[in-house]
Amino acid sequence: MSKTKLLLKNIDVEGIRFYETYRREGGYRSVEKALKTMSPDGIVDEVKKSGLRGRGGAGFPTGLKWSFLAKPTGVPRYLVVNADESEPGTFKDRYLMEFLPHLLIEGIIVSSFALGCNCSYIYIRGEYLWIAEILEQAISEAKNKGWLGKNILGTGFDCEIHVQLGAGAYICGEETALLESLEGKRGNPRIKPPFPAVKGLWDCPTVVNNVETIAAVVPIINDGGYEYAKIGIGKSTGTKLISACGNINKQGVYEIGMDISVEEFIYSDEYCGGIANGRKLKACIPGGSSVPILPANLLLKTTKGEQRMMTYESLSDGGFATGSMMGSGGFIVLDDKQCVVKHTYTLARFYRHESCGQCSPCREGTGWMEKILLKIENGKGNMSDIDLLWDIQRRIEGNTICPLGDAAAWPVAAAIRHFRDEFEWHITHPEMCLKKNFGIANYAKPIETVV
Ligand SMILES: Cc1cc2nc3c(=O)[nH]c(=O)nc-3n(C[C@H](O)[C@H](O)[C@H](O)COP(=O)(O)O)c2cc1C
Ligand code: SF4
Repeated sequence: MSKTKLLLKNIDVEGIRFYETYRREGGYRSVEKALKTMSPDGIVDEVKKSGLRGRGGAGFPTGLKWSFLAKPTGVPRYLVVNADESEPGTFKDRYLMEFLPHLLIEGIIVSSFALGCNCSYIYIRGEYLWIAEILEQAISEAKNKGWLGKNILGTGFDCEIHVQLGAGAYICGEETALLESLEGKRGNPRIKPPFPAVKGLWDCPTVVNNVETIAAVVPIINDGGYEYAKIGIGKSTGTKLISACGNINKQGVYEIGMDISVEEFIYSDEYCGGIANGRKLKACIPGGSSVPILPANLLLKTTKGEQRMMTYESLSDGGFATGSMMGSGGFIVLDDKQCVVKHTYTLARFYRHESCGQCSPCREGTGWMEKILLKIENGKGNMSDIDLLWDIQRRIEGNTICPLGDAAAWPVAAAIRHFRDEFEWHITHPEMCLKKNFGIANYAKPIETVV
C-alpha cells in the first residue's frame, strides 16, 4: 500500500497558503528547473513518461494531449485551468486551491512554458468566490517575487495568470462550454471537432486541464516522470485526490497512491474509517455523480472475484454492466438505510436543471426521467415505468453534443441495472412510499446485497 503524498505533502505546514512558507518548503523549484535547464519539448516528454492522466474525469493522457496542441506562427496559445468543479460529490480541487494556491500557480508556470503559452486562465465556479480571492492574492505574491510577469528568471519567458469566475452552471465545466463562457457568451458546449487544441479560446490553440492535473506537473518535474510513474499500478500512475463523502466516518479529501483496494480505502482509519453509525455498506458512486453506482458486492470485488482497486482500470473493469469509473474522484458512499430510487431521482433533477437545452435527447429526456423517477419514488409508478425509464436513458446516451447527456443517463441505467428490485418494491408497496420526508418519499427497501 502506497502512502506517498506528492500534492498534499505540506498541507499541514502552518501558513503554506502564503508565499514565504511555500517557498521555504521548496516551492517554485520546478519553475527554476524547467525554465533554466529544460526545453519545452523536454517537459512534455517528462509528462508523457510520468503516465499522468487528466484528473478532470475522462482520464486522457496529459502528455499526449499537450502534444496535440497546434503551433501556428503568430497566433497566441492558451492554457485554461478548469476549476469549475460542479460535479456533485467532487470537492478536491477546491481543497487544493484553498490551501495550496501556489502549487497550482507553480504548475501553471511550468505547463505554460512547456506549451508556449504566455497567458493562462483559471476558470473557477462562481460559488468559490473566497477561493478566487485566495488565488488572486497568491498570484500577486508570485508576481511581486518575479515568478510571473515579464522575463521570468531572466529567461525571456513571460507568463500571466487571470482568474475568471463562472456564474454557477455545471455545464461550464465541460471544456468547450467553459471556453464560450470565458469569451463572455452563454456556456453552450461547442460541436467537436474542431477540438480546443486546434480552435479553442478566441479561436486560438488551447489546452484545457483540470486543477489537479496541472498541480501534478510540479512533482513530475521535480522528481522526474519515471519516479512519478513508479507509484500506482499499470496505466494508473502517480497519486490521485479523492473527495470522500456520504455515510462514512471520515469525510474529506485524501491523496492516495493508486495501488490500494477499494475495501482498504473505505474501511481503513487512514482514509474513510468505515461506514458511519455501525451501519452496512450498500452501494457507492466512486467517481462523481455521473458515473454508474455499484452495489457493495461489485464495488469490493470484480466479477472475476478479484479485489477492486482504486485504479482507472479496476474501477471500470467489467464495463458498465458490472463496473464503474474513476471519473473525477468524487467517492459517494451509501449505507443500507439509503433509498436508491430517491437518490437517483435527486441526481436526475440535478441533470435536468443543468442541461443547457441545445439537444433534444438531453433537454427532453432529462425532464422525463426526473418526472418518472419522482412518480415511482412517491409510490405512484407502474411496472412499465421502469422500462420506459430504461428506454429514455438509452436514447440519450451517445446522442448528444456533449457528455452531459451521458452523465444524466448513466446513473439511471446503473440504478435500474443493479437495483431493479428496489424500483419494483416502490411500485408494489405504494403505502410505504407515502411516508413523506420534505415532500418526497424516503423509504429504502431492505436489501440483501449489503456488506
Ligand atoms: C458536464 C461536464 C462537466 C465537467 N466539469 C468538469 C469540471 O468541473 N472540472 C474539470 O476539470 N473537468 C470537467 N469536465 C471535463 C472537461 O470537459 C475536460 O475534459 C477536462 O477539464 C480536461 O482536463 P483533464 O484532461 O486535465 O482532465 C466536465 C465535463 C462535462 C461533460
Ligand atoms: S448534452 Fe445536454 S448539456 Fe450537452 S449540449 Fe446537449 S443539451 Fe446541452
